[in-house]
Amino acid sequence: MYDYHDPVLLQPSVEALVTDPSGTYLDLTFGGGGHSQAILNKLSAKGLLIAFDQDEDTLSRIPDDARFTLVNHNFQFTKQYLQYLNIPAVDGILADLGISSHQIDVKERGFAHRLNGPLDMRMSSSNPTSAADILQQSSVQDLTSIFKNYGEISNAKQLAEIVVQHRNQKNFGNIPEFKLAIATCIPGKTPAKYLSQVFQALRIAVNKEMVVLETLLKDAEEIIKPGGKLVVISYHSLEDRMVKHLFQTGNLEGTKHTDLYGRIEKPFDATPNSAIIPQAEEIERNKRARSAKMRIGHRNTWKRTHF
Ligand SMILES: C[S@@+](CC[C@H](N)C(=O)[O-])C[C@H]1O[C@@H](n2cnc3c(N)ncnc32)[C@H](O)[C@@H]1O
Repeated sequence: MYDYHDPVLLQPSVEALVTDPSGTYLDLTFGGGGHSQAILNKLSAKGLLIAFDQDEDTLSRIPDDARFTLVNHNFQFTKQYLQYLNIPAVDGILADLGISSHQIDVKERGFAHRLNGPLDMRMSSSNPTSAADILQQSSVQDLTSIFKNYGEISNAKQLAEIVVQHRNQKNFGNIPEFKLAIATCIPGKTPAKYLSQVFQALRIAVNKEMVVLETLLKDAEEIIKPGGKLVVISYHSLEDRMVKHLFQTGNLEGTKHTDLYGRIEKPFDATPNSAIIPQAEEIERNKRARSAKMRIGHRNTWKRTHF
């Protein structure tokens, strides 16, 4: 039914997001537009939806709907963009993080280790740094921390050293050459899992995904009106931890600060308290949903007076 990307947790995410059908909403990760269309279906004629996607391929998916605008940019600049549009705050934000099935399935994009593509992994063509550049230019220390922190790879240092040894002899060409170069690090029993972790780590580094998410989460309390929702669907533990911390403690580190009455100073309340995961039926239909975790934050009336 969905040829570009099968939207994950579609019904519960949109249900939680739209509290006022005449409100203004942001879908920060438009992709194939599955979530956007479902949001539009819930809005009245007065409602507005502004979507972001940094990938030019999504431009072919714009729905013909006067209530909809697509911004072909990184959502890191959401706050600035809203200021430019003179929109002080919105009723809700949806962020369905990561990459789309379309991006994974197009060989030339270089996101899939099973395809013979280039070592690219850029979501936007305006990004000057590809995965090959990172492999070619980063120090052993930086590569180790990319593999360890973004891919949770147990032999991260060994892998980083192999990369540097290889590149001293020749450039990294395409994905098959890269896999051959690191073959001694890949465990025989679970090669696909290992390669997925390596590719995830490189993709996060190429697209600076953690820095971007951090900016969004810090800006969200200003961008969302009291009573509005922040709905985040994430696909790995680092992303999910940041969102969980924001909703539990009001900061991304997870440190609790309380006021004179012992209440935690935080701009969002988690509703529900824990993450929502797809049902078995959805995972059966769509394997890419299996690692998804959704958290819903309800913007309360607390205002930050200090940092
Ligand atoms: C998981 S897909 C979203 C799928 C979408 N919810 C749907 O229903 O089709 C993630 C999309 O977000 C985009 N994206 C990821 N990070 C982004 C960022 N920082 N700025 C703008 N777009 C981003 C990707 O290009 C990709 O198209």
